[in-house]
Amino acid sequence: MNSQISKLVEAAQKARNVAVITGAGMSRESGIPTFRGPDGLWKNFRPEELATPEAFQKDPALVWEWYEWRRQIVLKAEPHEGHRVIAAMEKFFPEFLLITQNVDGLHPRAGNRKLIEIHGSINRARCTKCATRFELGSRVLSELPLRCDCGALARPDVVWFGESYDSNLLSASLDFLGSADLVWVVGSSGMVSVPVYLAAQARENGALLVDLNPEEAEFSRYCDIKIRGTAGQVLSEFWKALQ
Ligand code: OAD
Repeated sequence: MNSQISKLVEAAQKARNVAVITGAGMSRESGIPTFRGPDGLWKNFRPEELATPEAFQKDPALVWEWYEWRRQIVLKAEPHEGHRVIAAMEKFFPEFLLITQNVDGLHPRAGNRKLIEIHGSINRARCTKCATRFELGSRVLSELPLRCDCGALARPDVVWFGESYDSNLLSASLDFLGSADLVWVVGSSGMVSVPVYLAAQARENGALLVDLNPEEAEFSRYCDIKIRGTAGQVLSEFWKALQ
């Protein structure tokens, strides 16, 4: 067994409060593209034209069409073995929290309930006027931009560049991370700084930090255990070794 995985299993056997922070790489093996990297979405699309409040104000139909195209990919995708291991971890550890940057909903579909979707959900819309939230369901949305029953424009219920995070979700994450003893960061480039900040806070409070990613990232050097591999492959290996 890889020595880093043995180290991780040893730490997991002692851990009581465990958190997992996931990024786009987590869903790669389910066929959902990441944002950065050679085949990432930001190679072909410009974030400022699609994922900002200004872009939505300028062309709400274009923004909706892009989100609807991604949502259809997500609806056809299935959680993989790595998602199932994280769902099993929720039951295994006495205290557990999953914080995900992913808006695809694959973690709740795999069974996670103690989770914070810090960037929102692609499967939900929010009214720009009355703030009502509604689930989008599985049908293809043909009339875009979507409108709320009150008549105002609805928007995807996600966090865009230039927007603040929900402060309740942020403080619930920080509360948990304040007493976490083991924190994983899975499939995140660290280019969006809040999740890295959360992991750094946990480390300052004494947590052991695990970096699981096929590639080295800028924040990897602050991590105590570094595992180079894919989420599905490494989480399965870890889980078998832990049993
Ligand atoms: P990125 O697309 O920036 O990074 C994806 C990471 O996943 C990279 O570090 C890859 O090396 C890694 N990766 C690729 N395949 C993997 C696999 N099979 N298993 C594990 N890791 C793998 O994604 P995030 O860091 O999540 O924001 O980016 C966060 C935010 O940037 C997104 O939420 C989005 C984007 O711009 C907004 O739209 C506001």
